[in-house]
Amino acid sequence: MASHLLHHFKALSYLFFLLFIYHNTAMATLTFKPIKANCATTRYTDNSPFSTNLKTLLSTLKDKSSSSISINETAGKAPATVFGLYFCTGDLSKDNCQACIQTAIKDIIDSCPSSKQAIIWYDYCELRYSDTNFFGLPDTNGFSMINVNENTTSSRPVEVVSQLVKDAPLAQPLMFKSQAFISESLYALAQCSSDLRSKGCSDCLTTIFANIKACCTSSKGWRFLAPSCWIRLLSSLTKNAPAMAGFFYTIVREKRNMLYGLALCRGDLQNKRDDCQSCLNDASRSIVEDCPSKAQAIEWYEKCFVKYSNQRFFGMLDTVNRTLCGVEQVSADADCATEKLARSLINDAVKNKKFVSAGKVVISSSLSSYVLVQCSRDLSKGRCMQCLQRGMDKVSCECKLTNGWRYLSGSCTLRYETFPFFDTAIISTVSL
Ligand SMILES: *[C@@H]1O[C@H](CO)[C@@H](O)[C@H](O)[C@H]1NC(C)=O
Ligand SMILES: *[C@@H]1O[C@H](CO)[C@@H](O)[C@H](O)[C@H]1NC(C)=O
Ligand SMILES: *[C@@H]1O[C@H](CO)[C@@H](O)[C@H](O)[C@H]1NC(C)=O
Repeated sequence: MASHLLHHFKALSYLFFLLFIYHNTAMATLTFKPIKANCATTRYTDNSPFSTNLKTLLSTLKDKSSSSISINETAGKAPATVFGLYFCTGDLSKDNCQACIQTAIKDIIDSCPSSKQAIIWYDYCELRYSDTNFFGLPDTNGFSMINVNENTTSSRPVEVVSQLVKDAPLAQPLMFKSQAFISESLYALAQCSSDLRSKGCSDCLTTIFANIKACCTSSKGWRFLAPSCWIRLLSSLTKNAPAMAGFFYTIVREKRNMLYGLALCRGDLQNKRDDCQSCLNDASRSIVEDCPSKAQAIEWYEKCFVKYSNQRFFGMLDTVNRTLCGVEQVSADADCATEKLARSLINDAVKNKKFVSAGKVVISSSLSSYVLVQCSRDLSKGRCMQCLQRGMDKVSCECKLTNGWRYLSGSCTLRYETFPFFDTAIISTVSL
């Protein structure tokens, strides 16, 4: 592609999509790894009343986790009573909450063997027990975490979280509040454990928020996890980008602020996760900087593609498009052979499970055409076909007799070059 075109379409240069792993973070089974465990050094002995009561408590919590997102419970009579609670982030599905708590129940025993008091924290849940009655007491003795890779000078995150710190204590019964801002790729939450009343929740959140302000607000993402309350801020798109070449979308389940995102990495990056991840990071950062006030945006990059919207777009044909034409001429025969190849690849792509097809046609001893066509996998077959055919009609009309073209849309892409721009090894892996 001629360099003057690239000046105009910096972000569009060398796009190709080829990708494949479909990942829905909203429905996927999440994996739960403990972030941290605090264990008291006071111990109980096996077969003591405390030990029995702890078993009872954990089994009650396990049962309740199938129906409740946040709960506090006691087990046994004084002086061996065990006090316990768990909570999941208020927007976690019941299934994922149950899975997180079940993991936590196993992990807390392994992490804090025979401890009379223990707390374990995860990204999405917390589990805590103690031999003393801590119910109703805001415990702010937690820890902060930051995203060290990105700094910010924006005051928005602090404003957003200030509001959540005010609102969450009043949001009964969960005392959970979250907010997503599409244009800023910002997602924040505040939450308290169920044993606190509004006043205690407010005290807890205010205290940990002051801690965060003292250390961490120059970072782009941060959190403070205390035993009795949490606050958390993250950049939604980058945070949810899977550490693999792939296709994901994310749904932030705050009713009025749904954010739908989709990202695609080049298929040959499936084994180069860092490349894919860094492309997605750059893309989602620049989408925020280039389109600060838009509720939807698309950017095409060499190695990936990122799109987000406040409208649910999955399955819908997106006609936002760009066309790029090569600047050198080829013969009418070459043009014709290329179009014929492209049209047959379109038919193949629609039948292909991954909605992609790539191929090569030899025009002469010194000239070949390479074509790759692909749809985003949220489309139906019919819409994929429609998207590719309309794109083909457009490039064949606008890029007559040229030595390359690209059609880039939010739903499909077509590309032709006279050099092998994709790893031709994939031709054998794609049905042609
Ligand atoms: C962010 O700021 C801190 C100091 O406030 C600095 O040490 C760190 O290197 C910065 N990180 C980046 C990625 O700029
Ligand atoms: C939960 O905690 C509150 C105190 O804040 C207490 O009144 C209530 O009895 C506890 N619930 C259970 C089941 O222990
Ligand atoms: C491409 O975008 C233009 C508007 O910029 C629109 O009129 C046209 O229908 C689109 N074409 C296709 C094939 O998506």
